[in-house]
Amino acid sequence: MTTQTQAITTGEYLRTRAPLTCALLTSLLFLAACGGGEKKTANDDDIGTGPRAPTPDDPPSVVIGGLLWDNHWAVNATESLTTNPAWVLRKADPLSGAQNNRTGNDTWRCKECHGWDYKGVEGAYGPGNSHYTGTKGLVDVIPQRSRKQIESYLKNGVFDPTVGAVVHNFGTGEPNLSDNQIRSLVMFLFDGGMIDTSQYIFEDTFNGAARGDATLGQSLYESGNGVNSCASSSCHGLDGRTILFDGTETLGSLAKDNPWEVLHKARFGQPGTPEMIAVRTWGGTDQDASNILAYIQTMLQ
Ligand code: HEC
Repeated sequence: MTTQTQAITTGEYLRTRAPLTCALLTSLLFLAACGGGEKKTANDDDIGTGPRAPTPDDPPSVVIGGLLWDNHWAVNATESLTTNPAWVLRKADPLSGAQNNRTGNDTWRCKECHGWDYKGVEGAYGPGNSHYTGTKGLVDVIPQRSRKQIESYLKNGVFDPTVGAVVHNFGTGEPNLSDNQIRSLVMFLFDGGMIDTSQYIFEDTFNGAARGDATLGQSLYESGNGVNSCASSSCHGLDGRTILFDGTETLGSLAKDNPWEVLHKARFGQPGTPEMIAVRTWGGTDQDASNILAYIQTMLQ
């Protein structure tokens, strides 16, 4: 099998790894079942032959919320030339003293501040991680809020005296997410999109071994839902090496470096990449995604 080297940047790594220098491109990770054969576009309606990835125009859903959490710019095929004004609120990493100096698109991504594990500073993006921002996690906050509160918060934001402006107004300010997209984010947060990832990943040290069953994961990886499979040669391939991230990182190594990112993308898909049909979209469970993660972690690097 030939290895296709693509300029794919994940910008993700465990806190124990040296920071990679290039994080310009948003992450591009094809993980779950890819549509068999031909490339699909967001407009292809192939429900008749198998599941299709959701498009931004679909009614609100947890899966769309998960894609937006990852990268709303990629979902909407736009980008930001500005840096999120709320970015000035971030703190320097207490261990290294380094500042997360990303700019533009990255500074607007929910995951960049609140994490792939939704635990913010209490999770994998805690002290020592190159994505450190000191932002609070949401896993413990959301149960104390109402959907209406959060819907308004995400749409209209709040005035922040330090910034001197309204921040977090994702619906009325940049990036102008539609009401349905705000609702998708609310569904993601309240209806089981955001989970406690320690159910699926050992988090004592945030070193991230998956708790799933690798044997079950292997068959899901190789056969998917019976229509689409992660292992097809136009997707990740049997050995997870068809697509290399950052030009070098295999699916196996990414799953070890950032299991939270891989779990999230396995569950919801890759924003802007409808070829990748996520586990949730083909009707699989989070446990299925966790089993796949466990299998991928056993792949040769
Ligand atoms: C630049 C970093 C940053 C980004 C990007 C970001 N947030 Fe936040 N978010 C924060 C900070 C800081 C707070 C805490 C504000 C506070 O406690 O006053 C917060 C608070 C929240 C809260 C909790 C509000 C409450 O009631 O306590 C929710 C929900 C939330 N963010 C969701 C999101 C979602 C969804 C996105 C992506 C669309 C997002 N955030 C993107 C920094 C960010």
